[in-house]
Amino acid sequence: MATAQTQRIRLGLFVQPVGQHVSGWRLTEKLGDPTDIDWLITIAKKAEAGKFDLFFVGDALATSMYRLPSTMARLEPLTMLSALAVNTKRIGLAATASTTFSDPFTMARSFSSLDHISRGRAAWNVVTSFSTDVARNFSRNDMPNHAERYARAREFLEVTNKLWEGWEAGAVQPNKETGEYFVNDKIKSIDHDGEHFQVQGPLNITRSPQGRPVIIEAGSSADGQKLAAETAEVIFTAAASLEEAQTFYRSQKDQVIAAGRNPDHVVIMPGVMPIVGRTREEAKALWKELNTLVDIDNGLRQLSLRFSMDLSQYPLDGPVPEVPLGEGNQSRVKLMTDMAKRENLTLRELAAVAAGSRGHRVIVGTAEDIADDFELWLKEGGADGFNIMPAIMSEQLDLFVELVIPELRRRGLFRDDYEFATLRENLGLPAL
Ligand SMILES: Cc1cc2nc3c(=O)[nH]c(=O)nc-3n(C[C@H](O)[C@H](O)[C@H](O)COP(=O)(O)O)c2cc1C
Repeated sequence: MATAQTQRIRLGLFVQPVGQHVSGWRLTEKLGDPTDIDWLITIAKKAEAGKFDLFFVGDALATSMYRLPSTMARLEPLTMLSALAVNTKRIGLAATASTTFSDPFTMARSFSSLDHISRGRAAWNVVTSFSTDVARNFSRNDMPNHAERYARAREFLEVTNKLWEGWEAGAVQPNKETGEYFVNDKIKSIDHDGEHFQVQGPLNITRSPQGRPVIIEAGSSADGQKLAAETAEVIFTAAASLEEAQTFYRSQKDQVIAAGRNPDHVVIMPGVMPIVGRTREEAKALWKELNTLVDIDNGLRQLSLRFSMDLSQYPLDGPVPEVPLGEGNQSRVKLMTDMAKRENLTLRELAAVAAGSRGHRVIVGTAEDIADDFELWLKEGGADGFNIMPAIMSEQLDLFVELVIPELRRRGLFRDDYEFATLRENLGLPAL
């Protein structure tokens, strides 16, 4: 049974195959191809050498409206991770999949398969999708509204959990004497009859090594936080400041307690794009160079899509206009408008940041600067770990592994090696 080390940082690699920063690909010495499995294996092996907990693959069921090279065309996450599962040994493999446009039976089966193939390293980033472009790829004109998407997600998870639990451990005991292969009373139908789903079960795959994948969620709206409190084991967020992160962290953990769960069994990991340099000057110069390569028209288009309003009518060097919270990605809109207010950003400046880091926090500095920041967030209750978004792939990942991880280790904040066989145990989560 795993014992969670106290105050140990969990690290996820948020994989954008050609970099998180919109212009990162223009500065790499060796440009990878996002749909080339050998490139993804190379990245996964680097992350595993660094002992990252998670190799995390985001997804959307439409091509990138922003024409970003990392997301315009990509491999389907579960398919990609199945290939990575047999080319890695210890790192957790997390795939994003939407509850709005799939069925619980298919999803339970796919993730159980990945957990079997990876021998207990699968995780599912449960998302509800938010863009109209996605709806239009699934025979609808528009998305179901925000509350409806979350109601479906809740029942979806209830059904997948029942399906996974339908197969108990020890259900397969081939007995050549009796001719019995399965132990029948360890395999149960679920007969779910709910508002959105009617599913008989049982699942057509045996119980996987972790029992079920580790459940990740990343919705920060009130509905998103409530669902995460009840069902998530890892929570991704996009907090811009320590104060904001602490507020989120406290609120989310309080809700976990209110839902009757142990707050130590829910790992909160804000996203961060570290710009790592061997010196502070080198890091600053790189950050500047990246930003001078941002196309402001593209940035403004991205921001308009995020905010569901046309921003081209506003003066670029004026303030960021007030944006009503709509039916889309509520938390990211709020994060960006709050950041603009706090840092007094013009619309042009916010567009550059939005295009550059896509709304995530940026730390520019040396390994010591980055480790200082992580240590502070960890100690002050802002995070249990971080989702690392290298701006340039793979140079910024390489520097993170070469410089930042050893610095975290020197401070006793990061383990030397994977300690357990399964992802759930390595994250300090209880076995099922
Ligand atoms: C770090 C992070 C990664 C995310 N990755 C994805 C993703 O790959 N695909 C997706 O559809 N949504 C992704 N999201 C969005 C959330 O899952 C969620 O759908 C969104 O925040 C809207 O929900 P909300 O209104 O409850 O905040 C991500 C969010 C965060 C913070």
